[in-house]
Amino acid sequence: MKNEMWSGRFSELSDELLQKFNASLDIDKILFKEDISGSIAHARMLESCGILKKEELDDIIKGLNQIQDEIEQGEFIFDIKNEDIHMAIEKRLSEIIGAETGGKLHTARSRNDQVATDFKLFVKKSNTELIFLLKELIETIISYAKEHKMTIMPSFTHLQHAQPVSFSFYILTYAFMFMRDIRRLQNGLELADYSPLGSCACAGTSYQTDRKLSAQMLGFKDIMLNAMDGVSDRDFALDLLYNIAVIFTHTSRLCEEMILFSSSEFNFLTINDSFSTGSSIMPQKRNPDVCELIRGKTGRVYGNLVSLLTTMKALPLAYNKDMQEDKEGLFDSVKTARESLIILNAMLKKIQINKENMLQACKKGHLLATDLADYLVREKNIPFRKAHFIVGDLVAQAEKKGIDISQIEDLAQFNPIFDKEAVKLLSFENSLNSKQSEGSSSKISAEKQIQFLEQFLDSL
Ligand code: ARG
Repeated sequence: MKNEMWSGRFSELSDELLQKFNASLDIDKILFKEDISGSIAHARMLESCGILKKEELDDIIKGLNQIQDEIEQGEFIFDIKNEDIHMAIEKRLSEIIGAETGGKLHTARSRNDQVATDFKLFVKKSNTELIFLLKELIETIISYAKEHKMTIMPSFTHLQHAQPVSFSFYILTYAFMFMRDIRRLQNGLELADYSPLGSCACAGTSYQTDRKLSAQMLGFKDIMLNAMDGVSDRDFALDLLYNIAVIFTHTSRLCEEMILFSSSEFNFLTINDSFSTGSSIMPQKRNPDVCELIRGKTGRVYGNLVSLLTTMKALPLAYNKDMQEDKEGLFDSVKTARESLIILNAMLKKIQINKENMLQACKKGHLLATDLADYLVREKNIPFRKAHFIVGDLVAQAEKKGIDISQIEDLAQFNPIFDKEAVKLLSFENSLNSKQSEGSSSKISAEKQIQFLEQFLDSL
């Protein structure tokens, strides 16, 4: 069949194989709302510049609104012969209002700036949605942080016991990661706030258009100043793909720790039954599938980023059909992020914190060794390196006896350098709250961190 949109110079019909291969309708149909609002803004601008008559504009808007209804009601016939959502809508518009007026909508526009505009609007909408979901996740974390300022657990470096911290302090780490994710998305939003609409094929148009007007109607801050850049830029999509990739770096770390900490070896927390799955063979199993899936999905969102980077690499200016490959991965990353953040938040809200097990775990691994070394420096004027050695020796002696240093009752028996006061240091609470530096694990510091994050959330 002949393609009605561009068949003027062709004498042969499109091969069916080409039609199928070339079409992106199955993927880009989710842009229908963006396409319709983009077209309405464009038509209004054309009318305001005297390029369309008022009656023509009214017909176009009426027709486009009807198409939106048809799509929403599931009545619209998506036919890949129409190649993509832009052509499918334009063709239907001409059916509804007649080709005479319908055919005028594409004046001073090309599919190149049209698709860039639609895609950008989708990216902006997705940025905003993800900011909201991350905000909800941070709120959940803050509620745990408020409740567990004195719930003591071991911290780890190299996955070996390090120092005692509070669960509050530990979980706030993730709130800060998600705060930065929000800020990255905000930056992405700001960079994407320039409209490509009206750039046309790549060189602009000879009509007297008002690009700022259509930009404003679509909620853009301003226009892209170079038409060739307008149609060849996909940075906004790459930014979102990267930002989602970083979000998944964070969620995968959180999920990994949920998996680890809910295992029988740790048992620091319990994932609620409603978010656990069973095994088809082992009756006793409760598996953390949600966390594993989120961790696993990190692979596809990283892949989507690398895929578009590779598509865009070394592409000559301006639009190339390669760029049609920009959407599928981005739609997938956005959907994956949306679904993962929603279920992660719901799951986190229901975890049970096993305080007693966290505390018991602190009694292994000589978590208080650094506190003793700091004490020798502070009270006995011993250089830190030497203090480190003395406490190392104490740890070795305790290990020989098969005890943790937190269980020692009389430190002087091990080394006379320690006086009676020193034993007070062998308390986890004391260790936590003795921290003086900004950003430390002390209760006061955790409170400050919570306050800071709450202010950040209020500013959104
Ligand atoms: N479906 C195309 C895409 O997604 C729309 C732009 C087509 N432009 C063109 N010159 N063929 O990229």
